[in-house]
Amino acid sequence: MVENKIRLGVNIDHVATVRNARGGVYPDPVKAALLAQKAGADGVTAHLREDRRHIKDHDIERLMAELSIPLNFEMAATEEMLKIATRLRPASSCIVPEKREELTTEGGLDVVSNYNYLKEYVSKLNSAGVSVSLFIDPDVEQIKASKELGVDKVELHTGSYVDAEGSLKDVELERLSVGARFCNNVGLEVHAGHGLNYETVIAVARIPEFTEFNIGHFLMGEAIFVGLEKAILDMRILMDKGREVL
Ligand code: PXP
Repeated sequence: MVENKIRLGVNIDHVATVRNARGGVYPDPVKAALLAQKAGADGVTAHLREDRRHIKDHDIERLMAELSIPLNFEMAATEEMLKIATRLRPASSCIVPEKREELTTEGGLDVVSNYNYLKEYVSKLNSAGVSVSLFIDPDVEQIKASKELGVDKVELHTGSYVDAEGSLKDVELERLSVGARFCNNVGLEVHAGHGLNYETVIAVARIPEFTEFNIGHFLMGEAIFVGLEKAILDMRILMDKGREVL
């Protein structure tokens, strides 16, 4: 029996990346989302980027219409995204920083420097009934600012841990652990994501405060070899394994 099971949100952005490489309609990210749901995913995440490089507007509309598990709508804090999110009202949204030139979301949101703007932005989303999470680095000042701003959850960026080598790996894991504990102490629900794979997921799952992981790129790559369903089930087993040793 695994106590305190972590929810798994499956990010399907890169199914759309492959589809868009040929400009057609397959592989269909909504089909992948429905398969993830069948395989036991607790939620689906999709990032509608400003440049629409993977997920498109119609994907989000179809995901909202067809999924029975919650959609976590990843978005930059722009006026355009605010209009879309308040119109579609997904179960939750995760605000991420976005730069056009980056390959993926490279760092966490700077909540400290953008405090006033984000406060107003989050309150507009909340008024429309959208629950908001902020994607931040495991940094105490960013966590404090997120709490003061009024969100009830944050997602800690696991990229630095995943990419770290040698002794730095432990340093980064400790940052995640301290960050997650701090979130818990101030009453923030805490999620994690970015770059997680079979090798790194167990150690992060051992940090007891995390309640949800959002994982995409690795799962979609693995799905090429073993199928999406098995990739998700194997990830689930490893996440549970991290919790069993607690
Ligand atoms: N969480 C957030 C906020 C992200 O921006 C991403 C990447 O889109 C992920 C999780 C998933 O990261 P990955 O695709 O590397 O698993």
